[in-house]
Amino acid sequence: MSDRIRIGDAEIACSEKGSGRPVIFLHAFPLSRRMWDDQIDALSGGHRVVCFDWRGFGESSLGGGIGTLDRFADDTAALMDHLSIPKATICGLSMGGYAAFALFRRHRDRIERLILADTRATADTDEARRGRIETAAAVRSSGVEAIVETMIPRLIGETSLNSRPQVSDKLGRIIRSNSPESVAQALLAMASRPDSSDLLARIDVPTLIIVGNEDKLTPPAEAETMHRGIAGSRFELIQGAGHLPNMETPGEFNRAVADFINSGS
Ligand code: MLT
Repeated sequence: MSDRIRIGDAEIACSEKGSGRPVIFLHAFPLSRRMWDDQIDALSGGHRVVCFDWRGFGESSLGGGIGTLDRFADDTAALMDHLSIPKATICGLSMGGYAAFALFRRHRDRIERLILADTRATADTDEARRGRIETAAAVRSSGVEAIVETMIPRLIGETSLNSRPQVSDKLGRIIRSNSPESVAQALLAMASRPDSSDLLARIDVPTLIIVGNEDKLTPPAEAETMHRGIAGSRFELIQGAGHLPNMETPGEFNRAVADFINSGS
């Protein structure tokens, strides 16, 4: 079932399927909830699977703008209120993971379990921040096309680049469906996000860390740092996938998530 739900000053497009304990998926940059297409059916037997487009992305409106990633966290909590979900397993991939850290900081009581996929706890380096500001300006002046060809080879691993053309094609369609202004605002929001390394020791919910072994954007070393920092966390290295194992090797990704959400810890 898909719906558009008014959350504050934005209309948020949301899909859900199944019933049982809720699992909410937070998408990456510069994508949309379509990146979770392979998770919805596979994981909805026994769980209420929810995914939505961040404000400004996919079919959601930008409303008053993004500002910081705290806005994404507050939108997530407000959406959970609307859906009558007091607590959920939160699965954030990359920028979705940054938003999950913000959710932990601001709405800790809404998180039952945490899945951090292909993300990092650290803030941007000065160089990365400068790069994002330049990219935001390029997207505002030349459109989203300015990043499509450079982003896709960074988002997926070598194996997918060589043998899974359908993943590149789908990514191109998703990226092009987003507006330049929203993409620019998300870049600036990511550039200003705080370092979440101190948060790791305070994460006291069952946590799964997932990363593709070919991830170039948030390499396995980042995932290992989060695994070491979060007491009792599980770690899954997905072979043959880059930054988007849920799209590149959905079977492996879904198995790791299902093992975690079906287990007691
Ligand atoms: C993402 O996949 O969400 C982005 O690549 C994250 C980032 O640029 O830091």
